[in-house]
Amino acid sequence: MTDNNFDVVFIGGGPGGYIGAIKAAQLGLRTACVEMRGTLGGTCLNVGCIPSKALLQSSHLYHEAEAGFAQHGIKTQGLSLDLKAMMARKTKVVADLTTGIEGLFKKNKVEYIPGAGRLASAGSVQVSLNAGGERTLTAENIVIATGSQVMGLPGVEIDEKTIVSSTGALSLNKVPKHLVVIGGGYIGLEMGSVWGRLGAKVTVVEFLDRITPGMDGELARNLQRSLTAQGMEFRLGTKVTGARKARGGVELSLEPASGGDTESVKADVVLVSIGRKPFTDGLGLAEVGVNMDPRGFIPVDEDYQTNVAGIFAIGDVLPDRPMLAHKAEEEGVVLAEKLAGHTGEVNYGAIPGVCYTWPEVATVGQSEEQLKAAGIAYNKGRFSFAANSRARSSGDSEGGFVKLLADKTTDRLLGAHIIGPDAGTMIAELVLALEMGASSEDIALTCHAHPTLNEAVKEAALAVTGKPLNS
Ligand code: FAD
Ligand code: NAI
Repeated sequence: MTDNNFDVVFIGGGPGGYIGAIKAAQLGLRTACVEMRGTLGGTCLNVGCIPSKALLQSSHLYHEAEAGFAQHGIKTQGLSLDLKAMMARKTKVVADLTTGIEGLFKKNKVEYIPGAGRLASAGSVQVSLNAGGERTLTAENIVIATGSQVMGLPGVEIDEKTIVSSTGALSLNKVPKHLVVIGGGYIGLEMGSVWGRLGAKVTVVEFLDRITPGMDGELARNLQRSLTAQGMEFRLGTKVTGARKARGGVELSLEPASGGDTESVKADVVLVSIGRKPFTDGLGLAEVGVNMDPRGFIPVDEDYQTNVAGIFAIGDVLPDRPMLAHKAEEEGVVLAEKLAGHTGEVNYGAIPGVCYTWPEVATVGQSEEQLKAAGIAYNKGRFSFAANSRARSSGDSEGGFVKLLADKTTDRLLGAHIIGPDAGTMIAELVLALEMGASSEDIALTCHAHPTLNEAVKEAALAVTGKPLNS
């Protein structure tokens, strides 16, 4: 007989829900995870982090073969793009990883229930099963981990063919001649990079007078410079006021953000990437009295509990936190620990952010702008990859640097910002340093292998209070 009673039911099998479910089961809780997509892994594995990184890698290799190999004395002839094969590889990577989670569920004794979950009351979830029929689950604890969806732009209707969200941009069947990206944030720059490397002219229209709001300004300016050098065009301080389908594409109307004359721009494909909003459709939140804020996010207390006892929320549905897969995972783990009677806490001050463009940008902790606004005095250490022997050997030294910010009085690390090769991997050392309350001196006194990119971190740490050795 099917057992419908659980200690905890997660609604949503993305990084928040599936990791939380595995942890809860490992801690001995009877756990189920309801997911309606048909595959596990959520936005991240199916239409987010993973397919975008697969295409970023493939397009990077193509672009290197076209423009980067020559500096190493490697000549290519007859280079051509097999977009179908590139897409097939991406699809296989996604399929392998999502089915892998099903294996993890079996191993850890999480029951996977494919279907759409709806809160029937505090303590019960009604599931409309993908295979047909209904199932009612009861659980002392219910976790909403339903994630986010693309935010639309009035007058620019997404059809996933010529006007696409990130999901459509991950599956175009040919390289557009002109791709207009609305929004110069993470999705716009990553997907713009993919199609730009494969041959599209890319124009980024950004409402603000800078790209990647929230990122340390010096890094954002350097990133824009590098992307411009790669051929990306930026229209900052500009808004899109409408879109009209024209033969073989779209005609967009643009205006200065502060108002002024309208101009018209033609595109084969338009990517709308102006942010994401919480996804809570059909969940029955209002019916069971779960509060939402005016933008539809679900506020929670320090235990991730909503205003209704026994109903919790994690991941992209939470307000005022970054929408990142690893942040959702941390929340899933901490919530599982708490539900199992243990303690835990997510350190929101030490969540890294990585933009997987070329160069990569990785940051953790506070930016210079944030420190200035908070009136915190700091020392800054900066070291350029141009003086790093490994970056020079690889031919990846152009324009990148490591910047560390440390408290002027105590020398405690407050923020770390890297633009350059493999920045996303390098930042881990600095996340750990921040977590451990390390000083810049601690980092400077730590032996770093030679020749590695990470030596630039050590040199930046030396530069905080003294002098780097290699510049
Ligand atoms: P989601 O991953 O959105 O998962 C929620 C799941 O809940 C979905 O599968 C949905 O089908 C399911 N669901 C919803 N309602 C119901 C219901 N009623 N019943 C059953 N199931 C339901 N983040 C990074 O950290 N690094 C990256 O490189 C990165 N790249 C990205 C690239 C793109 C193109 C996009 C769009 C996002 C990217 N993100 C990245 C963000 C990341 O994907 C999200 O922050 C993360 O997936 C959020 O996890 P989550 O568990 O909260 O929700
Ligand atoms: P975003 O918040 O990163 O960027 C949106 C950009 O659009 C901002 O620069 C904003 O100023 C601009 N904008 C807003 N309205 C506009 C308008 N009307 N016209 C022109 N520009 C406008 O959002 P994005 O890129 O859609 O990504 C959504 C989320 O997905 C992000 O919050 C990010 O956390 C996550 N993500 C993370 C990635 C990573 O970690 N590498 C990769 C991709 C997405």
